[in-house]
Amino acid sequence: MADPILISTEDGVQTIRFNRADKKNAITSQMYGMIADALEAGDGADTVRVHLFLGQDGVFTAGNDIGDFLKSANGGLGDKVLRFLKALAGAKKPLVAGIDGLAIGVGATMILHCDLAFASGRSTFRTPFIDLGLVPEAASSLIAPQLMGHVRAFELLAAGAPFSAEDALRTGMINAVVEEAELETTAQTAAQNLAAKPPEALAIARRLLRGDRQDVLARIDEEAGHFAQRLKSQEAQTAFAAFMNKGRT
Ligand code: COA
Repeated sequence: MADPILISTEDGVQTIRFNRADKKNAITSQMYGMIADALEAGDGADTVRVHLFLGQDGVFTAGNDIGDFLKSANGGLGDKVLRFLKALAGAKKPLVAGIDGLAIGVGATMILHCDLAFASGRSTFRTPFIDLGLVPEAASSLIAPQLMGHVRAFELLAAGAPFSAEDALRTGMINAVVEEAELETTAQTAAQNLAAKPPEALAIARRLLRGDRQDVLARIDEEAGHFAQRLKSQEAQTAFAAFMNKGRT
């Protein structure tokens, strides 16, 4: 079976690509672990200067695997998810993303950690946390209101409204909306351009721009505490079962 996450490095850019298209790139615990490993290893490798996230044609990722949510009712978010979230929030090297299509749940909130992001016009960002009986994660409850103001953040994270690529552009989640056919090249070129810059100066500038990450890391833990409780709740269990059983009852 093909690896659900593909990792490759070229010209200083480590590409981390979701590769589980038959399941809309839904992220399993194993996949979180693979991404966390890649981010941590890349941060420590001289050959890597930038991390680039890509998905597949028409789908970035449909977010956390809901089957995993069902199984982990008593285990909280899980070590691998937390490692992934903290590797993302604490990444030492720039994060770039190219989104073509669905970016759901953590597929949307992970973009809030990126330094440059590009999306095709057919992209949709949506976080159905509340509909699933869950709460926002990845420190999105902290970062999104700072980025786009309370009402837009509430619309995205609590009301679960879909954001189009244009909405994402207007709210500062992404840098540009590009043609589908140009998406990967645009993201790759932006990543390569960053990788070609003096890395020490870039790292200092990035640290200054992003500010202290302690509050972000603390919010990830705070959200994870609520998330663990919510996973066990009747509201969440009913929503997960409804999704997993659709068309199969
Ligand atoms: N977890 C587990 N499996 C998922 C999944 C997820 N988050 N998202 C999609 N899949 C699976 C489907 O169960 C289906 O599997 P099957 O072929 O074995 O039946 C396959 O991926 C294709 O999905 P499908 O729903 O048939 O495609 P669609 O084009 O009609 O809809 C989505 C795509 C993404 C809109 C829809 O799958 C969806 O809403 N997924 C859940 C998103 C979500 O709530 N994520 C969690 C956020 S916290």
